[in-house]
Amino acid sequence: MATPILRHLLTFVLAAGLLGAPALRAEDGYDLWLRYAPLPAASATSPASAIVAPDNASDTVRAARGELQRGLRGLLGAAPAVQSGLIADAIVLATPDDRPALAGLGLPLAALGEDGYLVRRVELDGVPVTLVAANGGRGLLYGVFALLRHLQTGGRLEQVDLSSAPRVRLRLLNHWDNLDRHVERGYAGESLWDWWRLPDVVDPRYTDYARANASVGINGTVLNNVNAAAEALTPRYLEKAAALADVFRPWGIRVYLSARFSAPVDIGGLETADPLDPAVRQWWQDKAAEIYARIPDFGGFLVKANSEGQPGPQNYGRSHADGANMLAAALAPHGGVVMWRAFVYSDTDPEDRVKQAYSEFKPLDGDFADNVLVQVKNGPLDFQPREPFHPLFGAMPATPLLMEFQITQEYLGFSTHLVYLGTLWQEVLQSDTHAAGPGSTVARVIDGSLHDKPLSGIAGVANTGTDRNWSGSIFGQANWYAFGRLAWDPDASAADIADEWLRMTFSNDPRFVGAARDMMLRSREAAVDYMTPLGLAHIMGTGHHYGPAPWVDDLGRPEWNPFYYHRADRDGIGFDRTRSGSDALAQYAPGYAAPLYDPATTPEQFLLWYHRLPWDYRLASGRTLWEELVRHYDHGVAEAERMRRSWAGLGEFVDPERYEQVARYLDIQVREAHWWRNACLAYFQQRSGKAWPDGVEPPPLPLEYYRSLRFPYAPGDT
Ligand code: GCU
Repeated sequence: MATPILRHLLTFVLAAGLLGAPALRAEDGYDLWLRYAPLPAASATSPASAIVAPDNASDTVRAARGELQRGLRGLLGAAPAVQSGLIADAIVLATPDDRPALAGLGLPLAALGEDGYLVRRVELDGVPVTLVAANGGRGLLYGVFALLRHLQTGGRLEQVDLSSAPRVRLRLLNHWDNLDRHVERGYAGESLWDWWRLPDVVDPRYTDYARANASVGINGTVLNNVNAAAEALTPRYLEKAAALADVFRPWGIRVYLSARFSAPVDIGGLETADPLDPAVRQWWQDKAAEIYARIPDFGGFLVKANSEGQPGPQNYGRSHADGANMLAAALAPHGGVVMWRAFVYSDTDPEDRVKQAYSEFKPLDGDFADNVLVQVKNGPLDFQPREPFHPLFGAMPATPLLMEFQITQEYLGFSTHLVYLGTLWQEVLQSDTHAAGPGSTVARVIDGSLHDKPLSGIAGVANTGTDRNWSGSIFGQANWYAFGRLAWDPDASAADIADEWLRMTFSNDPRFVGAARDMMLRSREAAVDYMTPLGLAHIMGTGHHYGPAPWVDDLGRPEWNPFYYHRADRDGIGFDRTRSGSDALAQYAPGYAAPLYDPATTPEQFLLWYHRLPWDYRLASGRTLWEELVRHYDHGVAEAERMRRSWAGLGEFVDPERYEQVARYLDIQVREAHWWRNACLAYFQQRSGKAWPDGVEPPPLPLEYYRSLRFPYAPGDT
């Protein structure tokens, strides 16, 4: 066994090619998709002669320039010098303000807005150059990242022709990070924010975090958990948040905070947090002024109110709109926004849980102030492997709705399951709400185009932490990446994004990219199949949500119990959400809902979400529901095994450290896919009393074994 020092030496020797081995650099994933690994000689593009940027560059343009140098140094082996005079074959960063000659080129700059960019070969004052043009510093920064992506994915400098502008204004990460560094639903170590040592110690990692976000267009970050501690708003912690804001600012990233609604009582010495009380309103106005004095570009507040025990306006008999508008009034003079979450369900209301957010929020449409966005999870339940889109999308035409996705894999096997979420998010974004006729996709609700909303946003619950590879796993990084790319363009293709990410993260070799992309694109459906096929949902272990526990039916509140969601017994399985049941379907536009009232015209992926059916119900395949359920679980397991086999054939394209980590995680995933399949089928077989279909292997252990498993130290729990 080599000592750590010997191992490092060996790695170095191998990496330097001194033993004649292929020179795959040792990598630990820290560099994410910004590795800037040397381009193979065959595909090398012609070098740039210089980087030309204005002398009086802003911090953002300096960041862009620095990133370009860094990238070119890695990719091409040398970093061109930065200068202000034009020379042939330079890369020129320019806005119309600093280079009036741009006006004469007839470039479509006006359409790019503040953040868009254009990268192409042009002649500027008679000199041939590669131009990165935008209307401001942020656009130049995004343009530089686009140019580097072009080179990293095999494009040539002399052929570059790129142009893009973001479709969504607020593109945010939500960190569920507590001030003690525990990350709720975090599977990648502790919080990146070292709250205790900030602001004196500013970890260089914060800059790398900002670079990674900027590279995919993310322009804001909510630093603390939605289950917020009021202390985050005290001067001591605001100073820490300000230090982070200073690091992020050059990278076009604003800082936001989750605000605890009862803060005026908790830290302000008031006796009430009633949003209509003048003293409370004044307290928030003063607080906003205090924050903006420290963080002039502060983005605003994210609020979880009257949800899962959090305080809110309803504690004082007021509505969500009263609460949101009070905070909005405090932030408006400074240009901030309120993101008010619609993740609400009552602890007493017997109404189907998936209907409650719509019931509460739909009547408030039109009541919110202009700088309020209502933040809605992608589905009406809670980040399940699959659920239909949330019925609020399309149903609140007078209110900007901000999409909340979950990047961290709370219900999807934590960081040790390879589940590419690009396909899940694409499925949601491309769902047709029919709210304003066919073609009213969720993407068009979110980008504001369907109902003509100037304010728009997408948030992703971050999967980052102190793990060296940021996301707890290498493939977890793909979900961070894909989130940013879809936030920029909600109509982007998950397959293209996977392709890009693989090329930047590993290799442009088509043999690698083809096989690994196939794994990624199939991975989410695999997880659905081994966890919750045919529209099942929320049958994970209590509290931590690790592993299967469909049998749990004894928790305090009905909707906390997995049993509530499937109701399996001798007669059948599923949740009736048609007219004979909760009629949750009535919350959707008829164009979407009509076919779903009949199980025969319901897509099988949502069958048991909308219908309760007998075990002998026949599906399109001719198989019974019971047989089909078994088949899906078996298929999920087979897919997990297939992924492991595929990866085993890709060793030659990946450095040993990252290759091994992925391989070990796939071992875990295969083992846990079997566990899911065996535990769920043992349980559903017992509930249904059905015989095992021919050729199917019964679970190797009795149901009691699976039921007895306990995981008191599962990570990420609340
Ligand atoms: C889920 C999750 C909680 C989280 C909540 C929310 O229920 O399990 O940890 O606080 O969502 O989004 O507010």
